[in-house]
Amino acid sequence: MELLCIQSQEHPKLPQGELKAVIECEEMKTSLDIITEGLVILKDISPENIDDYYQILTRRLGYTHEVHQILKTSDIKNFEEDVLSINWQDYIDENFAVRVKRFNSKIDTVAYERKAGSLILEKCENIKVKLNKPKSLVRVVAFEDTIFIAIEKYHLNKKHFEDIKPHKRPFFYPGSMSPKLARCMVNLSRVKAGQLVLDPFCGTGGILIEAGLIGCKVVGSDVNWKMKNGTAINLDYCGITDYRTFHLDVRELKMYEKVAGVVTDPPYGISTSTGDIDGDDIFKEFFHAIYHNMADDAYLCMASPHYVDLNPMIDDVGFELVEQYSIKMHRSLTRIISVIKKS
Ligand SMILES: C[S@@+](CC[C@H](N)C(=O)[O-])C[C@H]1O[C@@H](n2cnc3c(N)ncnc32)[C@H](O)[C@@H]1O
Repeated sequence: MELLCIQSQEHPKLPQGELKAVIECEEMKTSLDIITEGLVILKDISPENIDDYYQILTRRLGYTHEVHQILKTSDIKNFEEDVLSINWQDYIDENFAVRVKRFNSKIDTVAYERKAGSLILEKCENIKVKLNKPKSLVRVVAFEDTIFIAIEKYHLNKKHFEDIKPHKRPFFYPGSMSPKLARCMVNLSRVKAGQLVLDPFCGTGGILIEAGLIGCKVVGSDVNWKMKNGTAINLDYCGITDYRTFHLDVRELKMYEKVAGVVTDPPYGISTSTGDIDGDDIFKEFFHAIYHNMADDAYLCMASPHYVDLNPMIDDVGFELVEQYSIKMHRSLTRIISVIKKS
């Protein structure tokens, strides 16, 4: 069986990287087919796994917009016949809408929506078309001459990433990254629900919110007590209960339980203070402080500015680089997202 992911195209590599990390840490048995940027298919999923995998993906992913189960892979020539071959009664509950999305295809989306809708109505009794908030969504995706006919069984809540933007939380301070990037970084750190995640520069708690929402236990610390308290306020607001926050300098960090993942956005640039640590030394100090607080198989996912070379510091401490992504922020700043583990 197959799942189709429609992904964000705001970055050429991060959405796929995030998906691969989730597949890896959740030990999903599947093979990935990258059709084009924004369209990925998870193939060869066994019937007993499909629902679990579907729910994990919709619960976790940040840079994926929609996940659907493919019912038939068709083409322009056989489209009508293939729509008619599906047992729609098994998938549609009361009312439905058909929505078509194109990738490198010139098909007439409205005509295909109407055509598929009337064929489905022809086949089933007691169902209606409802274009606004339908109970069932039939997703048709055209890529060149191929047409995937799919159903949305579990909805990925994209609205969360809008509703939880930094300025909408009860405690706000400038410099918090977007919730989508924070979620993606949590996923890149390959942690699972129930595991312990640490952000030692927690600020307003943006990263910990996303880790908490996928079911992780979270610990945050910050040298600034206002931030430590603000993180707690924001975590409470998001209904996250399994957390601890500490007021401390990263150099004093000593966890009783080694963490399964560290996800963090260390201070850099003029807008954030680094306590009394000079310039880029904050990164060196951070790597030294964090190493012994991480489980041997834990991953670290962190952001840094392009002008800081992390490589010698990583080597020096005994870490190795797993993967790296760059995000252009503006003309003079590119943010580097690095995934690191113990070597
Ligand atoms: C870029 S902000 C983190 C933003 C955070 N991800 C958020 O969502 O708000 C960096 C944080 O590191 C904290 N910080 C600076 N120096 C520190 C140190 N030496 N030890 C611990 N925290 C420090 C700052 O107080 C600031 O809150």
